[in-house]
Amino acid sequence: MQNLPERTVVVLGMGGTIAGRAASADDNLGYVAGTVGVGALVASASHDAPVTVESEQVAQIDSKDMEFALWRRLAGRVAHHLARVEVAGVVVTHGTDTLEETAYFLSRVVAADKPVVLTAAMRPASSRQADGPQNLADATTVATLGGRAGVVVAFAGTLHSAHDVRKVHPYRLDAFSSGDAGPLARIEDGRLRALRDWPAESIMARDRMPEDASAWPWVEIVTSGTGTDGRVVAALIAAGVAGIVVAGTGNGSLHRVLEAALADAEARGVAILRSTRCLDGTIVENTPRRFASAGDLTPVKARIELMLRLLESR
Ligand code: SIN
Repeated sequence: MQNLPERTVVVLGMGGTIAGRAASADDNLGYVAGTVGVGALVASASHDAPVTVESEQVAQIDSKDMEFALWRRLAGRVAHHLARVEVAGVVVTHGTDTLEETAYFLSRVVAADKPVVLTAAMRPASSRQADGPQNLADATTVATLGGRAGVVVAFAGTLHSAHDVRKVHPYRLDAFSSGDAGPLARIEDGRLRALRDWPAESIMARDRMPEDASAWPWVEIVTSGTGTDGRVVAALIAAGVAGIVVAGTGNGSLHRVLEAALADAEARGVAILRSTRCLDGTIVENTPRRFASAGDLTPVKARIELMLRLLESR
């Protein structure tokens, strides 16, 4: 019988707390994110599955400073490695703060026929309580799964879809949730206990993304609330905004003054997408309303969605 070639997983490093280092192993807050190289992270994680693990440093940043040019580069590297026959899947180590944005972005621009698994950590690599090594081991396990495709997030023993995942806690180890949709699976002792199917996103051509970051459509989020008026919207129109995501109250309702300002923006060619500031759930439409609905996307993901739609329509 012929031996099957050992599968390869490629780990792409972007920085974050998972690559953070502090002066003391007891310091979980005073660390510098994006310090430890991805090769060292891979060496510190044990891998349950028999795999060859390769690594590549794509960036070394605190993810609060993520940029469109880096997104574009990361998408290119993910697509490059997915196309290699010996590669079973790709893992991305990332900061937790904008993980959900990068996951959603990748899910919309990379036609993944294999798993692409993002992971991160809430404690730096130097911490006595470092959670990165187990999260990375879990992500690597998921990346070797045959018959699964798409962008997912492995974190604290749970697998989330790129569509639904959101950071819900600034300090807790189990910092992510999938909201109403619930997680895709639990990762237990190197095995996956599936809870629901991996969703598929429609894919936008990567060549639509401009190389020049300043050429990406400018989209901002505006929130509706007590006493909200139209001044922010007027300032955004004057400054040349291309799109506005409005985080409405409850089922996407808007303060009447803000709604009038947004109607004016729309009449001047600004694209408007209506989302909700509620933490869970989706906007439920009964009758057609003014402004397109973002459905179940959180405002930060609706912003990415609107940017991509504007790029597609160019
Ligand atoms: C970051 O997002 O890069 C820093 C915070 C974290 O990874 O938890």
